Amino acid sequence: MADLEAQKQRAALRAAAEVADGMLLGLGTGSTATYAIREIARRMREEGLRLTAIATSSATGALAVSLGIPLRSMGEIDQLDLVIDGADEIDPALRAIKGGGGALFREKIAAAAAVRMIVIGDSSKPVETLGRFKLPVEVHPFALRSVQHQLEALGAPIALRSRADGAPFATDQQANIFDVAFDRIDDAGALARMLEAMPGVLAHGLFIDLVDTAIIGTEDGVSITN
Ligand code: 5RP
Repeated sequence: MADLEAQKQRAALRAAAEVADGMLLGLGTGSTATYAIREIARRMREEGLRLTAIATSSATGALAVSLGIPLRSMGEIDQLDLVIDGADEIDPALRAIKGGGGALFREKIAAAAAVRMIVIGDSSKPVETLGRFKLPVEVHPFALRSVQHQLEALGAPIALRSRADGAPFATDQQANIFDVAFDRIDDAGALARMLEAMPGVLAHGLFIDLVDTAIIGTEDGVSITN
């Protein structure tokens, strides 16, 4: 069986090698991004790299602080040199689904502000066609039912994401997430435009024209797509 954790680590280490002294980084969220963040912190300690960063989630922020990575607030930054983040799916045209960890809103803002975005993952992440992974759609609570109604009209099963105790999952923005089971997304651009036209949708998990490089861990190395 494939060792997916080792693949994530290989991808993360390769991506962290792209970090250069003085960069302003966007730190992604999730298990693969965590490997990269730990490696970036190691390079700061052992190689003397001087970096500043923004965090794409409160969890990533806490990790970065615990590792001594100086953080800034995204709200005061116009451009990031590099974002390193995970993904739930990535297709051959470098379109991705993100948001499995619920951090899509901040992840997309960071990705859009980045000169370069590297997505990292294990060999379960590349797909020919997006959609097997349920698409996260983050919704302001004020619009919860009205957006639910509009999402249902698209014809795919939807579920409000919940926590382990059954309460609705709340994002860092105190918003909620619908996971939409499209199964197959043939026209990601058209779907993205439809979702963006729904008042109350804060973010959706389709990342189109945002990813520059995918680094995927393999059994014995990495595969890189630009
Ligand atoms: C969080 C994300 C994650 O990057 C994505 O879910 C992948 O996570 P992991 O590296 O743990 O598989 O989009 O919102």
